[in-house]
Amino acid sequence: MCGIVGYVGPKDCSEVLVSALTKLEYRGYDSAGIAVFENNEIRTVKTQGKLKDLENKLQEVGKPQGHVGIGHTRWATHGEPSDVNSHPHSGARVTIVHNGIIENYIELKEFLISKGRTFISETDTEVVAQLLDYKYNGNPLETIDDVMAELKGSFALGIMFKDFPDRIYAVRRESPLIVGVAENECFIASDVPAILKYTRDYYLLDHDEIATLTKDGVTFVDEHLDPVEKELKTADWDMEAAEKGGYPHFMIKEIHEQPTAIRTTIMPRIKDGLPCLEECGITTDTIKDFKNITIVACGTAMHAGMVGKYVIEDLARVPVNVDIASEFRYRNPIINKGDLVIVISQSGETADSLAALRLAKSKGAKTLAIVNAKGSSIAREADMLIYTLAGPEIAVASTKAYITQLAVVYLFAFELALAKETISTAECKRLIAALIKTPDAVQYVIDNCEEECKFIATKLVMADSLLYIGRGLDYALSMEGSLKLKEVSYIHSESYAAGELKHGTISLIDDGMPVIAVATQTDVIPKTISNIVEVKSRGAKIILVCTDSCARELKDGVADYVIEVPHSDELLMPITAVVPLQILAYYTSINRGVDPDKPKNLAKSVTVE
Ligand code: G6P
Repeated sequence: MCGIVGYVGPKDCSEVLVSALTKLEYRGYDSAGIAVFENNEIRTVKTQGKLKDLENKLQEVGKPQGHVGIGHTRWATHGEPSDVNSHPHSGARVTIVHNGIIENYIELKEFLISKGRTFISETDTEVVAQLLDYKYNGNPLETIDDVMAELKGSFALGIMFKDFPDRIYAVRRESPLIVGVAENECFIASDVPAILKYTRDYYLLDHDEIATLTKDGVTFVDEHLDPVEKELKTADWDMEAAEKGGYPHFMIKEIHEQPTAIRTTIMPRIKDGLPCLEECGITTDTIKDFKNITIVACGTAMHAGMVGKYVIEDLARVPVNVDIASEFRYRNPIINKGDLVIVISQSGETADSLAALRLAKSKGAKTLAIVNAKGSSIAREADMLIYTLAGPEIAVASTKAYITQLAVVYLFAFELALAKETISTAECKRLIAALIKTPDAVQYVIDNCEEECKFIATKLVMADSLLYIGRGLDYALSMEGSLKLKEVSYIHSESYAAGELKHGTISLIDDGMPVIAVATQTDVIPKTISNIVEVKSRGAKIILVCTDSCARELKDGVADYVIEVPHSDELLMPITAVVPLQILAYYTSINRGVDPDKPKNLAKSVTVE
């Protein structure tokens, strides 16, 4: 999704803007641009393509010289990726960058056309720039406020008024935006990593608040233009965490960070060998009465929810419904007062997940957010909150955020099972002890399976299509394995419940088609092996992910390639078994010449519906 940055201060503004934008590249984009006050005029340079294309253009035309400006990476929504559709966009006296969608832009555009305005781009953003210019009364705050009242949808804006060359303005509704501050300088950004090189201190802009940034600092007003005092936050993510640190890509770096990420996430939440989520607003008392649970999320986070369903139902015997947020919010879901709705999200800003959370609250449900990004909208609006402490996840394809989402889901399931008295304290202690061992098991897989996965990835590179199969928790996990591969290699793949194959999908099996079978659950392994044999006898090439305790007679002669992961408590196997699936996807991506950190068409944080 689009990335916004802005700067006011003594440094070379063009340089700060481009450097900050590089830290937002992970969000996904197709064009980039900056606008800087140069000799009291706004000078804009923008282009379709990547930041290096912008840098080339800046060299060609000369970079704007100045100390106040805004910058943008665009992920096309309205209008194709092109130079003219790139941001910043301008009216005669206003220049803006924008993240989000203006839902009523057609109506506003028609109005402006009727007033004689003309447009050069297809974007909704240009409509806002023109509207600001149309309404401009010499007072930027009043003008912004006036325009805000007319806009429908979600947006974050960075704004420059030609008459005020010493400042930029920032405003947001739904879309994320932070304001960073340091001595004699301030910043705006869509996400914290963009400013970490310069400062760790920042404010979270609230909905409909307007920030005014000058070199003397930042001031905030609310929608009535009354001043607002805000709490200064300090980012505990350091620069290094948002850098590649010697790895060729963020994705593989983040895969390697998983043991630490799990430890950091679980250890503060364990006391005397039992889960302790009190700080997150969760005790056996607060959760013991939940009779129905719905888990709502998108993408990878939804797959963590699928694992959650199996684990919570198995341990706590509470029915769990897992829903895709964009479906949940539009289908009048059955949520009753007293139900629990869990929203899982790495970014905490996914538009559909946020809307699902609000819908659940409006129906009287209690809400629990499992979120990675501190202070994000979902984190702020939920009744209970457990942060996954994975640190910044930069690669578009989620790895360490997913694994920490699993870890949190387990902690919650254990606590709920205790509350429901469906497991004993001793059993819970045993499960916690097993959970504490998972970082070592993940480390073992990284140390011992990476080469094997790298080799197997060379066999996948020419595939047109793949199947992932499994049963129970292995099925939930295979969904994530399949998504990972699709995201970063562009190879079509599907995940199927192994037992369902013969009801149609088996017709797809052709000679040499790779099938990745996940079989870590002892009680269903013989069944999965039967399904493997069925596809193998029709020509499939089998890659089997199983535990090192899987009986030889089961795997020998069945699989073309075997990846063994250490056996642990079977309920916890997804944490370990997902790792080879992530590594396979990473190396397949590399073998196919794809940049795994920035796959085409994808965005890290999807802040539009
Ligand atoms: C995007 C990302 C996925 C992610 C999904 C949900 O589609 O590309 O990797 O799983 O959004 O994001 P969230 O931030 O809510 O976990």
